[in-house]
Amino acid sequence: MSLLPSTYIEHIAGYEGQQVTLAGWVYNKTEKGKLIFIQLRDGTGTIQCVVFKKNVSEEAFKAAQSLGQESSCYIDGMVRADPRSPSGYEIDVRDVRPVSITQDYPITPKEHGIEFLMAHRHLWVRSSKQHALLRIRHEVIAAAQEYLNNNGFVRFDTPILTPVAAEGTTNLFATQYFDLGMAYLAQTGQLYVEAGMMSFGKVYCFGPTFRAEKSKTRRHLTEFWMIEPEVAFADQEDNMVLQEHFVSYIVKRVLERRAEDLRTLERDTTALEKIAPPFPRISYDEAIDLINKAAAQGVTVPPEQHPLPPLEWGEDFGAPHETYIASLFEKPVFIVNYPAAVKAFYMQPVADRPEVVHCADLIAPEGYGEIIGGSQRIHDVELLEQRLREHGLNIEDYQWYLDLRRYGSVPHSGFGMGIERCTAWIAGTRHIRETISFPRQLYRIYP
Ligand code: 4AD
Ligand code: MG
Repeated sequence: MSLLPSTYIEHIAGYEGQQVTLAGWVYNKTEKGKLIFIQLRDGTGTIQCVVFKKNVSEEAFKAAQSLGQESSCYIDGMVRADPRSPSGYEIDVRDVRPVSITQDYPITPKEHGIEFLMAHRHLWVRSSKQHALLRIRHEVIAAAQEYLNNNGFVRFDTPILTPVAAEGTTNLFATQYFDLGMAYLAQTGQLYVEAGMMSFGKVYCFGPTFRAEKSKTRRHLTEFWMIEPEVAFADQEDNMVLQEHFVSYIVKRVLERRAEDLRTLERDTTALEKIAPPFPRISYDEAIDLINKAAAQGVTVPPEQHPLPPLEWGEDFGAPHETYIASLFEKPVFIVNYPAAVKAFYMQPVADRPEVVHCADLIAPEGYGEIIGGSQRIHDVELLEQRLREHGLNIEDYQWYLDLRRYGSVPHSGFGMGIERCTAWIAGTRHIRETISFPRQLYRIYP
């Protein structure tokens, strides 16, 4: 005997006029005398189930009355088309069979504060907006992998416990690793995925990455998921062409397949419909000029409308600067050729201007910030050694990485896209903490 329902709500249209058995949870319930309206959710959708006293046994009616919010149950009934219901269908209930009756579910349809909701994240993930956000996250991940799999990339998994830093030494989570000294949680899979690139040509890694940075912004998590493609014989221009196709594919697929979730989130998709290659490119130098001109004119930046702070050449951009630059374009914009000093050690210097590197940050429209960081990597062993020294890193620790430049080195490029940043943008949610099931932040590790 199976415990499964006879169908799921997402397939209900195929069962019009037929008897079905649904299994799920009571999202909401209202009683009007001889009628009980149950909003049943089963993970694939929500449907109104109408319990009419004269159509069910006394026992079934009592069972329906006993179901508090989030009670679990089976509902047997007939599928009826109803143009007034959001799904287009409702269930004419014949029987109600409780599985677990709940009376005091903590998250009620009234408003709750964010602290309360975060402390109840394990339950909050059932709420319709959170459900929609996490569904979109799933689609972003599926689309990203599908694009790469269809374009000749091989998934090459990289370790999470690593002996050295890849993205600077200031934000490492450390743990004692048996008798072998300290190990660090990976900030990126990049260095290892470069080894895979030399075996397969086109690879990607995908997994959780960790940054012990003490930032409390809406855009930072201490644990986030990154997908990182790496391509042999590719320069930074090739890298950007790949990124604009990759990102456009993801947006398109989410628009096609998660329209209902985007509606649940009240996401205005007008701007997303325009996302297609090519994306604009501006240099770091141009960005600095634009920012300083705007700052001099007293331009303010949403959402807080604080004045845009001016910047000196050589400084890194903050969130307001990215938001301002993004506001000048309809599509994501590449900011290219940052000063070497603000970027990681492995980036290839520009030939006639070694103070800047072949890299780009891809800034999402509408103020959602950097979604991708990428670069062409140094492929010359001596230059790479020199850069490691300049960054105060121990050459001995990076011998295996230098080997990749000693044996069959080739120019190569790659990038990393943060799944949560990308999801926040597409779903139109300001705070990244809701785009991951259990966010890890400076002041949060429960639940
Ligand atoms: O720019 P980042 O630090 O680049 C790298 O780690 C490279 N090794 C990637 C590569 O070339 N293979 O991070 C890449 C992306 C950012 O653009 C952002 O989307 C996301 O990872 N990201 C974060 N997301 C959430 N919280 C944080 N603290 C993040 N830091 C980076
Ligand atoms: Mg970056």
